[in-house]
Amino acid sequence: MNMEFHDMAAACRSVRRFDEKRRITSSELENLVDVVRLVPSASNRQPLKYIAISDKSECDKVFPHLMWAGLLKDWPGPAEGERPAGYIVMLVDKEISFNAAVDTGIAGYALMLAAMEKGLGSCMLASVSRPKLYKILGIDPERFDIAMVFAFGYPKENVVLEEAVDGNVAYYRTEDGTHHVPKRPLDEVLIR
Ligand SMILES: Cc1cc2nc3c(=O)[nH]c(=O)nc-3n(C[C@H](O)[C@H](O)[C@H](O)COP(=O)(O)O)c2cc1C
Repeated sequence: MNMEFHDMAAACRSVRRFDEKRRITSSELENLVDVVRLVPSASNRQPLKYIAISDKSECDKVFPHLMWAGLLKDWPGPAEGERPAGYIVMLVDKEISFNAAVDTGIAGYALMLAAMEKGLGSCMLASVSRPKLYKILGIDPERFDIAMVFAFGYPKENVVLEEAVDGNVAYYRTEDGTHHVPKRPLDEVLIR
């Protein structure tokens, strides 16, 4: 991939429907983690830890505990066959730091970009059922917070950017299945 960063930022959209048959290997997910462990971190404390899940039966256990596209009220999330083929669960190790909100955002976006470079679509999900996931993943909630779950797969949906009009930033789907993402125009976000 040889792209200007502006084009990469435009292409790197949240993807929520995938070709579930095209599986992702654990080493592919491991390689993504190997990239994001290099990103900036407050005081260089690096409190983020990860769990990579590629096995289909494990993916099936994680899926029911994720909330997809809350603004699409009539859509219950990806149907069978369109579900993610892998997940990375991002954890905050509270033995290292309690205050990792900015770190999670930086690492999260890097994860999405690194995935895109490999042809993968992704979505970061903060609306997840944490108590259920702690159990399924065997994580000690005293030590770890689940920051976000990242879903990965080969994209099977068309996502388009558009300029938000009159401050309307609600994403939506049209009848042809295209997912539309309005972004505020430059003259609205650049105050001076
Ligand atoms: C902190 C954060 C949490 C998010 N949580 C969810 C989520 O739980 N479920 C979901 O479907 N999308 C989630 N998203 C994806 C956003 O809905 C998405 O970024 C937004 O609609 C804009 O689309 P874009 O990523 O293509 O620009 C989250 C994004 C961020 C930054």
